Amino acid sequence: MVTVYDYPGAVIADRAGVDIVLVGDSAANVVHGMSTTLEFGMDETIMHARAVKRADPKALFVVDMPWLSFHVSVEDTVRNAGRIVQEGGAEAVKLEGGRKRLPMIQAILDAEIPVMGHLGLTPQSVHAMGGFKVQGKMVDAAQALIEDAIAISEIGCFSVVLEGVPDILGELITKEVDIPTIGIGAGPATDGQVLVFHDVLGLGSGNYPKFVRPYASLADDAVAALERYVADVTSGDFPGEDESYHVSDEIAAEMLRGRKSG
Ligand code: KIV
Repeated sequence: MVTVYDYPGAVIADRAGVDIVLVGDSAANVVHGMSTTLEFGMDETIMHARAVKRADPKALFVVDMPWLSFHVSVEDTVRNAGRIVQEGGAEAVKLEGGRKRLPMIQAILDAEIPVMGHLGLTPQSVHAMGGFKVQGKMVDAAQALIEDAIAISEIGCFSVVLEGVPDILGELITKEVDIPTIGIGAGPATDGQVLVFHDVLGLGSGNYPKFVRPYASLADDAVAALERYVADVTSGDFPGEDESYHVSDEIAAEMLRGRKSG
């Protein structure tokens, strides 16, 4: 699974044969330059989802429910999940949280919308967690996460993202639940893995979290390409003959005559 936020990203992910594309609310960070996902709302979510939908992805298309879109009331939650499906074209929604969110998950499932869970270092809880910190490092906290995972799997989530937990906990939860686990910073034992598009392609600033393996350096490649473009424009090398539109010599001569006599 990989996150995507727009049409070209979805086309690229699909060409690469990714199984699941996720419009993550990490768009807040990697696309909009926000420091947390808390500023990202329903309208931005729908806009990104629609851009991805236009690529008609073959991959399963999941969209994140943004912060506060599933916290206020059950009714509000179902309407927001419904908008994500109806307006954004999602085939499933993902939401952060465990047992606390069971009534909301149940209501979304009752509206026939598949739900992917998300446990561990859940970025929407950044302030409650006291920062972006690995979760489940002590036995009690690990136990609580295992219980959360069991609860959301038993209620009917079709899979769960495990983010920022020790590898042993990723393994334990994967053994404990009947649904696929998808890890990000959760070690190698989860059933699947997810990374953020900009991280996996090296499109960011270069300060990637420990769990990221950048498979390309597209930001460096882009800078180098734009530097060559700037140099070619400055030297007059671009645009060249082949990159310009031409008229016949006759018409060109007439144009020049007209210009002179005018
Ligand atoms: O928003 C996001 O990118 C995510 C992934 C880290 C799973 O939720």
